[in-house]
Amino acid sequence: MIKFVILVTLISLINCKPKWTQLQNYTFEQYVRDFQKEYKADSEEYMTRKKIFEQNLADIISFNKEDHSYKKGVKNSTDESYFEKKESFSIFKNQVDFQIMDPPIKNSNQVYKAKGLTNLPDSVDWREKGVVSPVKDQGDCLSCWAFTAASVLESHAAINSGAGNLKILSVQQLVSCVPNPDQCGGQGGCFGAVADLAFEYTTKFGITSEYKYGYKSYFNDTYDCKFDPQKQSPEVINKGFAKINPNDQQALLEAVATIGPIAISIDSTGWDSYEEGVFDGCDYSENINIDHAVVLVGYGTDPKYGDYWLVRNSYGTEFGEDGYIRIKRESVPQCGVDSTPTNGFACGGDETPIKVCGMCGILSDSSYPLNTKIIV
Ligand SMILES: *[C@@H]1O[C@H](CO)[C@@H](O)[C@H](O)[C@H]1NC(C)=O
Ligand SMILES: *[C@@H]1O[C@H](CO)[C@@H](O)[C@H](O)[C@H]1NC(C)=O
Ligand SMILES: *[C@@H]1O[C@H](CO)[C@@H](O)[C@H](O)[C@H]1NC(C)=O
Repeated sequence: MIKFVILVTLISLINCKPKWTQLQNYTFEQYVRDFQKEYKADSEEYMTRKKIFEQNLADIISFNKEDHSYKKGVKNSTDESYFEKKESFSIFKNQVDFQIMDPPIKNSNQVYKAKGLTNLPDSVDWREKGVVSPVKDQGDCLSCWAFTAASVLESHAAINSGAGNLKILSVQQLVSCVPNPDQCGGQGGCFGAVADLAFEYTTKFGITSEYKYGYKSYFNDTYDCKFDPQKQSPEVINKGFAKINPNDQQALLEAVATIGPIAISIDSTGWDSYEEGVFDGCDYSENINIDHAVVLVGYGTDPKYGDYWLVRNSYGTEFGEDGYIRIKRESVPQCGVDSTPTNGFACGGDETPIKVCGMCGILSDSSYPLNTKIIV
């Protein structure tokens, strides 16, 4: 009897999330079971959620029938709100003192400029070299910047000291301890920041390992800094960081091919329903809302869907392709405008719109740590 119960539980766990190919006859009732929603049947909320879900499901099914390079799926959030159209960029153009600036770079930053390398490999995937750790989940906390910085430090430390040396580094140390006096990318901790601040911080303090200072901000609490270098001796340190020349595709390609994984900023607004394929859902005629930090782990060409950038996210392995998303890599990147820069990497509430290039602004703000090494 006990065996039987366990078996049934296992089967229902395995079956829990439908693939995009299984949505044709999918129902709200099944969805409530699969995602363990706790709505009371026939309550008002149940009916509202059902309506939203059914509209979104119809949109997903019809999207997947069209000729797109990626597929959408049903997620935990599919019953939360109707898929929203983004604000049209034209409303920003009509502002009186409208000006656009290039992504800012401090004079103190080292900048990687394209060298014109012509012998780059057709595809790069740093995971194949054993220098990329398993995907993590940031939870409800806006700590993407810390997950990105920790992951890039892990990879660069491993690359510089041989592949056997992949450390899992403490995201919590960054979330709780990295200061953000100029309010870059948010108010710090679970209220957002940028990976560069973490690279600056680790230059001074280093970063300890996950097992000495584990992640606990999952439920959206930043917590005070509890880093004690005597007890939680740092394991990796770097010497500052370099920016990639912004909006320069060749520079980013060269850097990810020859140096290692890169911290990047991107518009993730349309990623909610992404399931697989090469995402091209950002529209250059709309506002490009840079709002997320992720890791560029390589690039390649899909036989069916064309050239892509390979991007590691921090929403767990349930997201996209085992936690990764592939973003369209254009042969000649187009440019758009981020009119909501305070959602992204802008500092001090600077609302000046920023010129951002590449799909979802992928070329706009990239960096990597310098001289990253393991402290023995
Ligand atoms: C979905 O339902 C239709 C008719 O209601 C049926 O013809 C079809 O075979 C079903 N598809 C699947 C995948 O079950
Ligand atoms: C899924 O959505 C429900 C509300 O619909 C929420 O309470 C729950 O926390 C969500 N689960 C995850 C894993 O996000
Ligand atoms: C996290 O906390 C902030 C501030 O309390 C709140 O505004 C935000 O909605 C929370 N995020 C989530 C996903 O719960």
